[in-house]
Amino acid sequence: DQRKFFVGGNWKMNGDKAGIDAIISFMKGPLSPNTEVAVGCPQCYLMYTREHLPENIGVAAQNCYKVSKGAFTGEISPAMIKDLGCKWVILGHSERRNVFNESDQLISEKVGHALEAGLKVIACIGEKLEEREGNRTEEVVFAQMKALLPNISDWSRVVIAYEPVWAIGTGKTASPEQAQDVHAKLRQWLRDNVNAQVADSTRIIYGGSVTPANCQELAKTGDIDGFLVGGASLKPDFVQIINARD
Ligand code: G3H
Repeated sequence: DQRKFFVGGNWKMNGDKAGIDAIISFMKGPLSPNTEVAVGCPQCYLMYTREHLPENIGVAAQNCYKVSKGAFTGEISPAMIKDLGCKWVILGHSERRNVFNESDQLISEKVGHALEAGLKVIACIGEKLEEREGNRTEEVVFAQMKALLPNISDWSRVVIAYEPVWAIGTGKTASPEQAQDVHAKLRQWLRDNVNAQVADSTRIIYGGSVTPANCQELAKTGDIDGFLVGGASLKPDFVQIINARD
């Protein structure tokens, strides 16, 4: 299989040092060697987490800015993330898009700069409930992909996270059929708009209320190459999700 199963955790704005210690201790438990794992932690804990987590688990920032340095109060750059020994950044999460009003254009520029600076990127896309109900899912996710395209210089360092907004933090997981349907369309989109090699090798992971109870069914579909996990990544449940394919 040219797409190694990938499971990302997204802690969002949760945790403290004691909580991170607890997460680190269950992350030492047996993890499938067939899964690539990374955790997205708050920026103030990136260094602490990188220093304490086993080396084989990646650490991701949950956001970064689109230039390397300068007068941008409150922002962090990919260069800083790398300087702490972290290799990943999550960009375009629905909370960045919808709570902080980040546009497709800004997210695309951030992805471009993060890749140029040498980070790997988990780029998130996904439709809102009213868009799904209006049969606009495909139109919305294709537009999000199209905006990213001009700034992606190296697809081998990009993981696409499809996260339907209505499934995030709601307990309403997309069914394996619903998720697989969108993932297959995204892969076809890559085939049509980039090339077959990128379509075949790019991991497209699913996020939205993934739990130990639903991860195995989702992981069996042909085009779901892993997960981006929010709430469950704070609990030992995360280990079961990492091991979903075993
Ligand atoms: O990035 C993770 C997603 O927002 C999913 O969050 O697993 O809590 O629904 P959730």
